[in-house]
Amino acid sequence: MNIEGQVAFVSGGGSGLGEATAKHLAAAGCKVGVMDINGEAAENVANTIEGSWASCDVSSSKSTEEAFSKLSSSIGMPRIMVACAGVATGAKLVTKESTATPLEKFSKVIEINLIGTINCMRLAAAEMTKLEPLVEGERGVMIGTASVAAFEGQIGQCGYSASKGGIASMTLTLARELARDGIRVNAIAPGLMNTPMTSGLPDPVRESLISSTLYPKRLGESDEYANLVQHICENLFINGSVIRFDGALRLAPK
Ligand SMILES: NC(=O)c1ccc[n+]([C@@H]2O[C@H](COP(=O)([O-])OP(=O)(O)OC[C@H]3O[C@@H](n4cnc5c(N)ncnc54)[C@H](O)[C@@H]3O)[C@@H](O)[C@H]2O)c1
Repeated sequence: MNIEGQVAFVSGGGSGLGEATAKHLAAAGCKVGVMDINGEAAENVANTIEGSWASCDVSSSKSTEEAFSKLSSSIGMPRIMVACAGVATGAKLVTKESTATPLEKFSKVIEINLIGTINCMRLAAAEMTKLEPLVEGERGVMIGTASVAAFEGQIGQCGYSASKGGIASMTLTLARELARDGIRVNAIAPGLMNTPMTSGLPDPVRESLISSTLYPKRLGESDEYANLVQHICENLFINGSVIRFDGALRLAPK
């Protein structure tokens, strides 16, 4: 897809990977709709790129439907949907006191990360199917954000790795489902990235994660993620793929 002039919605666009993606796509000529539960952050990012913004909780159908209709009426229906909204809450199944961890510790992260991604993709795909096809019948492209924790989740990441595993495993399913409409679906599975989500990690944890990263020995940068998003959008033959983006990091059990 030639992305210049296309409409792109980015969930979680107020910070980190989503913010970098929103700015990168805007610099490449897209009209960008920034969605975030932190409306002020979404507005700030949108203002720097002359984009639109909407405050929304991706785990709520009503809130996300309202955000889509606000963005669509201001910049049009999306050809590109990048789902970055997410949280990294961790919890073990059983507490140190041998009690079962409250269920909502797991359901909340799955609702935001996995159901939130399905929520954005169902609304984006419905709009994309109404768009005129481009070269080779392409109507749109959607990118989910999984994690390497989808494949080697660490101790305490049950809810998080389940949510990211869900994003990884639904990618091919959706690519199959939407192929007849010319809509591609892919996911990126990042390793350790330099964003506000990881800035609070204690130094020993950060050092251990960096030392498990094969090469280069550092955190990934948000701009590098955004670059990959642009490449996926532009490269028609990338479809149904979950792309590890991790400097060959393989997470240890803890
Ligand atoms: N940073 C990493 O190392 C890393 C690694 C693998 C995967 N990821 C994934 O990348 C995505 C982006 O993470 P990040 O590092 O940029 O984190 P971040 O905390 O900087 O950004 C996440 C954004 O999502 C928003 N958000 C949270 N809950 C939301 C909700 N219910 N509705 C709408 N917006 C919501 C937050 O307000 C925030 O702006 C997440 O899905 C995360 O799980 C991050």
